[in-house]
Amino acid sequence: MSFNLQLIWDSLPLLLAGALVTIEITALAVGIGFFIGLCVGIARLSNIKPLKYLAIIYADTIRGTPLLVQIFLIYFALPLLIHQQINPFTAAVIACSINSGAYVSEIFRAGIQGIDAGQMEAARSLGLTWWQGMRLIILPQAFGKILPPLGNEFIAMLKDTSLVSVIGFEELTRRGQLIIAKTYGSFEIWTTVAIIYLIMTVSITQLVAFLERRNTIHDKR
Ligand code: ARG
Repeated sequence: MSFNLQLIWDSLPLLLAGALVTIEITALAVGIGFFIGLCVGIARLSNIKPLKYLAIIYADTIRGTPLLVQIFLIYFALPLLIHQQINPFTAAVIACSINSGAYVSEIFRAGIQGIDAGQMEAARSLGLTWWQGMRLIILPQAFGKILPPLGNEFIAMLKDTSLVSVIGFEELTRRGQLIIAKTYGSFEIWTTVAIIYLIMTVSITQLVAFLERRNTIHDKR
């Protein structure tokens, strides 16, 4: 077997463009997922029973079904219901955001539960409402604690976006498949694709480590 370096060189612009799309979908999914997760995580801890149960059903249903099936449901099944075609980009962002939201909600729940209950009691005894206590006292502390699992979610999502290649959306993995279909360079292209993913995930790890360091310096003051 010969290793065709020229093929890698020639394919690099296309693959890097695909990587950019991968980053775009991941950032959108984790960004939207963050807000879904925050709301659902708080809903799950609230005393309002219907909200709590809705949050539980959402998180358990999404975490209990494969992302791949969720992508198929949104891209192929949902259009039959709403009588409107959904483009692959929108379907990918919707599926990944809803999915990420479920995982992030559990991260938030754990983070909030990890804060001593006395903090909320102190906040309430100072005259703050439950919501003010959550926003001003609990969440800022919880946020520092959930940075590492949020970083994990970011990395997991970045890799899992490769699943949207199945609906023909041209992110990094799909670009790789298309180039191989033309050039038969499986070895060169899959190796390059893997390395590009690795560079992206290691960069996120570094970014999270940096944020964590900044956070602990802040804590010590
Ligand atoms: N691989 C799992 C699945 O198929 C998880 C996918 C979503 N991952 C994530 N970090 N949100 O459901």
